[in-house]
Amino acid sequence: MGQFEKKLSKKRRGLLADLEGKILEVGAGTGINFQFYGKNTEVIAVEPSLDMAKRARLKIPNGSNITIMEHGVNAQAVIDVIPNESLDAVVSTLVLCTVPNVELAIQNFYKWLKPSGKLILIEHIRPKTSLKGKVFDFINPAWKVVGDGCNLNRNTDQLIKNAGFVPTYEKYYDMGLPWYEGVFTRRKKG
Ligand SMILES: C[S@@+](CC[C@H](N)C(=O)[O-])C[C@H]1O[C@@H](n2cnc3c(N)ncnc32)[C@H](O)[C@@H]1O
Repeated sequence: MGQFEKKLSKKRRGLLADLEGKILEVGAGTGINFQFYGKNTEVIAVEPSLDMAKRARLKIPNGSNITIMEHGVNAQAVIDVIPNESLDAVVSTLVLCTVPNVELAIQNFYKWLKPSGKLILIEHIRPKTSLKGKVFDFINPAWKVVGDGCNLNRNTDQLIKNAGFVPTYEKYYDMGLPWYEGVFTRRKKG
């Protein structure tokens, strides 16, 4: 494991180990988060890449309750199996930079989470300084091509808050790119 993933691994454990109940993991990749889920969890992991999904299946720990769906998060097949206000947590690590129509995905998270549910994020975001932000905007089209659809310049922190999520914990930090992690709940209505 490289230094970068070692740091991330601590963050993943810290944010995921106490979750309970029904969880949606978005873009599970190779299933790196699966080891961190506790016993009282039932996880639907969506992953549109068949190759990644195959690798993730091999990482499902014995005795855990993890189902992988080979779809993007906004696919109708996913929407059809997740009732509104049914989830205790949505987990998105290193994914919202890539998801097409990220606003719709975030709206779906809001709709699918119980009022007491949590959204857990670790994502890289657009730099906050004007010059760096502009540089990232400039290189993004090329980056997106070589980076499998990854965008360097998404204001994911703002998108989450604009969609009605409130952080109970949030942290901004630099690990080569500007990163943002947080735990969010739905803003109370009224
Ligand atoms: C950089 S990987 C992150 C994997 C893992 N979540 C992690 O923390 O290492 C991004 C993943 O998002 C997946 N992805 C891309 N578009 C997606 C979508 N629309 N819905 C869900 N996952 C998507 C990719 O296939 C890829 O496996």
